[in-house]
Amino acid sequence: MGEEVNLLRNYPVSKRDVNSRANEKTEEDRRIARKFEFDFFDGDRRHGYGGYSYNEKFWAPVIPDFIKYYKLKENSSILDVGSGKGFMLYEFSKFLPNAKLRGIDISKYAYENSLPDIRQYLDIGSAHELPYEDNTFDLVVSIVTLHNLNREECGKALSEMCRVSKRNAFITLDSYSNEKEKKMMEAWNLTAKTMMHVNEWVKFFDDVGYDGDYYWFKPI
Ligand SMILES: C[S@@+](CC[C@H](N)C(=O)[O-])C[C@H]1O[C@@H](n2cnc3c(N)ncnc32)[C@H](O)[C@@H]1O
Repeated sequence: MGEEVNLLRNYPVSKRDVNSRANEKTEEDRRIARKFEFDFFDGDRRHGYGGYSYNEKFWAPVIPDFIKYYKLKENSSILDVGSGKGFMLYEFSKFLPNAKLRGIDISKYAYENSLPDIRQYLDIGSAHELPYEDNTFDLVVSIVTLHNLNREECGKALSEMCRVSKRNAFITLDSYSNEKEKKMMEAWNLTAKTMMHVNEWVKFFDDVGYDGDYYWFKPI
């Protein structure tokens, strides 16, 4: 079994955005957001990011923690599942210019609007059917993505991450630890189809054979 480890402790967080999103959304907003097209990434704030553009301040402080924790080397291979426009991979490429990078995301829009330097490393596809051989990557990461799949596909995606990884995997997932956090998560959630208490997630990992590391995203 993996470990709970906060490798995103240096990712900048905006409380103001979280609160405004919780106040505004409707079922129609959720339907639109779940398409993961323009509206989710670059449309109105009530459908998602409200503008998802590259800014070094987000991933640059985070990547050194991954390199240190997983002892990544110059030529390590890294897969990002739910890679969006490739921002995290781009930051990896700056720290480890010879690393073998790959990203996969369901969104054609994200691919077409990804960072030009990174697009060649990106695939379009779903996390529950990864088009890679067994034991391909030194590290497989997935940041706030797998809860967007239904429970069955989410379980498959967790197994897939382990299958294509030689050893290390890391995920962050929407979750909660108490009633207050649960209410906040339900109010805030736009896209997640699988939402669980942290203890339920850990049991789920065991059930589906996910033995990588993990941490939680909580909107408070
Ligand atoms: C909240 S965004 C996170 C993006 C990126 N990991 C980050 O942290 O900036 C969630 C991502 O999951 C992707 N996604 C949703 N369902 C997916 C699926 N079944 N397979 C792969 N990616 C998926 C979306 O297109 C979107 O890019």
